[in-house]
Amino acid sequence: MSKTETETKKYDPANPEPLAEGMVRVVFMPEGRFADFEKGKLPYAHHGKPESILDVAENFDIFLDHACGGNCACTTCHVVVRQGAELMNEMNDDEADRIETAADLQLASRLGCMAVVEKPGTVVVEIPSWNRNYVSEGHAPKKE
Ligand code: FES
Repeated sequence: MSKTETETKKYDPANPEPLAEGMVRVVFMPEGRFADFEKGKLPYAHHGKPESILDVAENFDIFLDHACGGNCACTTCHVVVRQGAELMNEMNDDEADRIETAADLQLASRLGCMAVVEKPGTVVVEIPSWNRNYVSEGHAPKKE
């Protein structure tokens, strides 16, 4: 799927498009934009760990805030994994220590820059409500 396609298509959980073998799909809720790529072939976007949720977002022009540049030094890339946690890496001590300071912390919370998709399949992440306005058009919202 090209960047253009991901900008127009929305994920339908009741009737998802088929995902070819060896492919990864990351769905960003609640907007429902999604990105498909071949596992191990995503170009590194230089933010966060390679093939992390943040790296995927950067590759497909889906804005996920990342104030520290993807270095596990803030919590602005906070996401909640709603599906596919078993496809992702284990949280290491640095991420665990950092995410404890996140607002609206949940059991399935991860830092987008540290959460790497390690196996093919579908991962659904939700952007916490306090951060949702940032996830549009590839930039932060205008200040009022
Ligand atoms: S971008 Fe700062 S912790 Fe992920």
